Amino acid sequence: MRRITLNLLPGLEVEFVDRDRALAQITEWAEKSTRWPVVIFGPEGCGKTAFLRQAASGLRELGYDVFYLHPLDRVFAAEVDDPDVKSLFLDLVRKTLEDERWGRLALAVFDLTREILKKRRRKIAIIADDVFQAIGLDKAAAYVKGLLNTIEHPVYSYEKIVVLVATSEGMSRSEIGRHRWADIMPMWNMAKDGFTQLYEAIPGVKPLFEEAWRWTGGNPHMLLELHKSGWSVDAVVKALIRDKELTSSFIAKWRRWLEAAVEDPEALWSPDTPEELIKQLTEKNLIVYNMYDRDPYFWIDQPPPERDPELGIGRNVAWQTPIHREAVRRALEEVGLG
Ligand SMILES: Nc1ncnc2c1ncn2[C@@H]1O[C@H](COP(=O)(O)OP(=O)(O)OP(=O)(O)O)[C@@H](O)[C@H]1O
Ligand SMILES: [Mg+2]
Repeated sequence: MRRITLNLLPGLEVEFVDRDRALAQITEWAEKSTRWPVVIFGPEGCGKTAFLRQAASGLRELGYDVFYLHPLDRVFAAEVDDPDVKSLFLDLVRKTLEDERWGRLALAVFDLTREILKKRRRKIAIIADDVFQAIGLDKAAAYVKGLLNTIEHPVYSYEKIVVLVATSEGMSRSEIGRHRWADIMPMWNMAKDGFTQLYEAIPGVKPLFEEAWRWTGGNPHMLLELHKSGWSVDAVVKALIRDKELTSSFIAKWRRWLEAAVEDPEALWSPDTPEELIKQLTEKNLIVYNMYDRDPYFWIDQPPPERDPELGIGRNVAWQTPIHREAVRRALEEVGLG
């Protein structure tokens, strides 16, 4: 499978690095089809979008007609052989860009898939990145059900089908999970080897690799944030405290729990942890709660280690990255002083 090129920084292109197992998983799906829509979740910035783009390209290479939707970035593509379907899709994209009714476009993919299959049995892939944020979390489950129907009850039969969805919305996992209409698979930050390659691709003065690793835990987006800030952990942490709204009332309300969690995230697994706190930490994309068994079968690419106290990974609960943990730690300190 050819590796795609990604724009790491303005003017700096890199090849999609590492994630060898994930690439093998694409090939396997292409051979067998996905029996359920695969819904991928994981820490913000861990590389879900990059992976879906790589999957779209790889599946096209393997003879698939590919629909790719990424409403948040306003990127839509129909890499299909049928020119009529392609122009129908492009017309819809144009209209949607005018009135921002993303739901309509997301739904149109069902009709377009049918249109393609009406003429000939084919291999079809639907790849939807962060659609739930665009169509609304309340419609996420219904959309996944629609995707499942396309797999289970196609009006015209297909040769193979691959349906991949990614979400960076912490809450969508439970929203979709309770229906059991999808194969929900986590993806973690990059493993050390792969992350080394990204680190090396970044030009200029930079901290020692071990330091970059300790702060980012292999999260490519955090690496880029650090780079952007001139490697100021302090600036990145301050921005997180602001954006995640780690306000004095939030911190004061949950102080006891948060103090324990920055020491060991697994503290939040204790049965008396308030559900409201878990919900808020999940919504804020600070932690991943109820981590999957580390059997690679359940994961996209390689699973994280069972525990890594330095990176803030516990068996059942993990900080998304060490910087997320640091933001909470710093907020606790500041509110304490205030
Ligand atoms: N395997 C990879 N090779 C090269 N660059 C990568 C790889 N994975 C991620 N990146 C780069 O790291 C950055 C963050 O990745 P990406 O946007 O895919 O994360 P994400 O999980 O989709 O984030 P979000 O949760 O915000 O949607 C991007 O600039 C992306 O191009
Ligand atoms: Mg993304």
